[in-house]
Amino acid sequence: MAPVNDGGRFFCAAKLSSQPGEQRPLKSIHMEIVDNNAAVIETILDGNRFVRACLRRPVDRTPVWFLRQAGRYMQEYREVRKHHTLVEICKQPELASEVTITAAEKLGVDAAIIFADLLLPLEPMGLPFEFQAGEGPVVHHPVRTAEDVRALRTDRAGDLAYVARAIEKVSAHFGDRLGIIGFCGAPYTLASYMIEGGGSRNYIHTKQMMYGDTLSWRLLLDKIVKVLEEYCLLQVQAGADVIQIFDSWVGSLGLADYRDYAFEASKRLVNAVQKMGVPVIYFGVETAGLLSEMAATGADVIGLDWREPLDVGWRSVGHGHAVQGNLDPITLFAPPEVLELRVKEILRAAAGRPGHIFNLGHGIVPGTPVENVQAVVRMVREFRLEGANG
Ligand code: CP3
Repeated sequence: MAPVNDGGRFFCAAKLSSQPGEQRPLKSIHMEIVDNNAAVIETILDGNRFVRACLRRPVDRTPVWFLRQAGRYMQEYREVRKHHTLVEICKQPELASEVTITAAEKLGVDAAIIFADLLLPLEPMGLPFEFQAGEGPVVHHPVRTAEDVRALRTDRAGDLAYVARAIEKVSAHFGDRLGIIGFCGAPYTLASYMIEGGGSRNYIHTKQMMYGDTLSWRLLLDKIVKVLEEYCLLQVQAGADVIQIFDSWVGSLGLADYRDYAFEASKRLVNAVQKMGVPVIYFGVETAGLLSEMAATGADVIGLDWREPLDVGWRSVGHGHAVQGNLDPITLFAPPEVLELRVKEILRAAAGRPGHIFNLGHGIVPGTPVENVQAVVRMVREFRLEGANG
């Protein structure tokens, strides 16, 4: 079976196995693309529906998954959380894989994102943190000075191997059935947590270092990229088909600041992950003004939030990239007819163009009715563009 050769990068077929360079068998599912007369025009044997969409290759229908699809809105997750902290779940491959698998099975989605957290790499870098009830993450000794940056370690990314062990279990469970997503934070977003010590409204400390001690800022991003490269490689070697890079808070930057202080490190990480042989999804929130620049990192897929219509966002990104999104997560609380209207608007805006992955514009929030999430999966599965394929 010939590997997919996309601009010199060999996807899936050449994905790294335990030894860099070693070929591993291509994940495959049987899928048929039909034309208007129901004649088979392409039989899909290479890569699953989700991975194919990431690469803008034709698919039989739009793939769908959800940001934060495993979380507190789901009864099964709340049960596990009664007995374990969030970090315990992340660090025990048996639990992390179970939570990942349960959510993906229950929803019937096309991809499973590994259960982990953005902040896990902080610990091996020398920054212990905890999740405090109602407050979100708290980093005990935030990075504020040049000396703090210099003290950060970059030699212990291997401590994150528990995430790779969980991916192996998820991969063994699903085999070729669906795509497996590994993830990490983007350098800017991760740096903001390290410097602020948690979530932030105005990113004052972050921007103070960025503008005021640019040398330390650049050293910090370099160190983060070094650790994340190794972390992503562990995930790819364990079976992740795609890596999503979360730049959740990049919308706090204006375009000039994104260009001057964040773009280059993101681009370096995107390119390094692509060299591992998997496509990259690059996601942020409130990014309408940044989309073309985010696309310039070379990421295969750009995640869109819900503030612009999907077709408008896709034009800014450029049709040479796939897009993922972009339902407002709070629409999942709306009556069924409103929900259906919004889902269909997004699918129509995608216009059957190869390279759309249906998702939310940001994560599912606690209290979301699970049946509404399942209903969206059904809507996406059943959707047919008027005038196309009968
Ligand atoms: O199903 C999935 O999406 C996989 C699991 C996942 C978690 N965190 C588990 C989690 C993923 C992909 C993340 C990524 C993550 N973590 C991001 C980027 C995604 C985004 O939302 O933009 C960020 C910013 C974090 C940091 C983080 N983790 C925060 C700010 C919080 C607290 C938020 C809250 O709602 O309390 C977390 C906690 C967290 N990580 C939860 C989950 C399921 C919820 C809390 C819990 O179980 O105690």
